[in-house]
Amino acid sequence: MSLLVETGASYGAILGVGAYRPSRLVPNSEVVDAIDSSDEWIQQRSGIKTRRFATEDETVVSMSVAASRDALAAAGVDPRQIDCVIVATVSHLLQTPSAATAIAHELGTEQAAAFDISAACAGFCHGVALANDMVRGGSARYALVVGVERLSDITDPTDRGTAFIFADGAGAVVVGPSEQPGIGPVVWGSDGEHYDHIRTPDLRDVLASGTMPCLSMKGSEVFRWASFAMAKVAQQAMDRAGITADQLDCFIPHQANNRITDAMARSLKLPPTVKIARDIIDAGNTSAASVPMALQRMIDDGDATSGDTALLIAFGAGRAYAAQVVVVP
Ligand SMILES: CC(C)(COP(=O)(O)OP(=O)(O)OC[C@H]1O[C@@H](n2cnc3c(N)ncnc32)[C@H](O)[C@@H]1OP(=O)(O)O)[C@@H](O)C(=O)NCCC(=O)NCCS
Repeated sequence: MSLLVETGASYGAILGVGAYRPSRLVPNSEVVDAIDSSDEWIQQRSGIKTRRFATEDETVVSMSVAASRDALAAAGVDPRQIDCVIVATVSHLLQTPSAATAIAHELGTEQAAAFDISAACAGFCHGVALANDMVRGGSARYALVVGVERLSDITDPTDRGTAFIFADGAGAVVVGPSEQPGIGPVVWGSDGEHYDHIRTPDLRDVLASGTMPCLSMKGSEVFRWASFAMAKVAQQAMDRAGITADQLDCFIPHQANNRITDAMARSLKLPPTVKIARDIIDAGNTSAASVPMALQRMIDDGDATSGDTALLIAFGAGRAYAAQVVVVP
């Protein structure tokens, strides 16, 4: 006997975007002393001028809920219509339950499936790919994808390689059915051989030492990999979506380092008409939150308008990466 199966919509699309930026602005001058650095060095090497750190009240859950409410309002979707909540994060400090279940509850989704994914900085683009396949496969009509981090909790302010980079924030999108293709094929992968390049310590070691589980990073290795290998992935995402560089309107890479963005844009030979996300300048690197926050910024600034094509790419720990071309809602 054969089982009944379900199919979903012909196409999925991003229907609404929202973001939450924490209230506390932290200029380079506030982080330089502990790492014997300078505003000039940080701006030159990374592009960052300021970043935002969450206050005590701005939790992983509360920032996500605020970003999600904006995304739902922009999409015109009621929380009760959401069938699945996917949260990409590495800084929800409970092993279990997931942040997604608390976020779904606070939004009032009424029993949506809810789970976190651990794909570090690439998590949001993984979530968009999953949500798109759910909408097309029939397991969800509307899915909420959140990227959120409170990296200030797990960054050592005295570590020269990370203290000036990482920051806090949240971004969210609603993915749902569409009459036109709104999310192109995902190009994704990982390379665990370089598991140690960005990581947190084993929690048993943390317990023994009585410290916080802070991120460590082999900055130059990550820099070289991201600058060279990721442009090829971005190109594949464009090829598979049938989009050429001159048909692209926006390039929204993970906000890891402005020099990585520059290297990718050069390799992709993006024409000057393509608007490039530079949210890192005053948001820092917010890992899983960086792509949806940068998308929201471009929409707010009028750099991305409805119907534009935008190339998203994100990459990070575990050398996990994901890229896709999307249509701006
Ligand atoms: C972190 C990063 C900006 C460091 O830049 P870099 O050019 O690779 O720096 P290096 O570690 O090679 O160090 C270069 C010099 O700057 C110095 N330096 C390192 N950190 C410094 C800091 N915070 N402030 C001032 N000087 C610093 C080093 O001591 C070294 O000095 P030397 O040449 O006299 O020996 C860069 O590696 C980077 O952006 N990596 C990728 C980070 C990233 O994107 N991570 C997220 C991916 S998800």
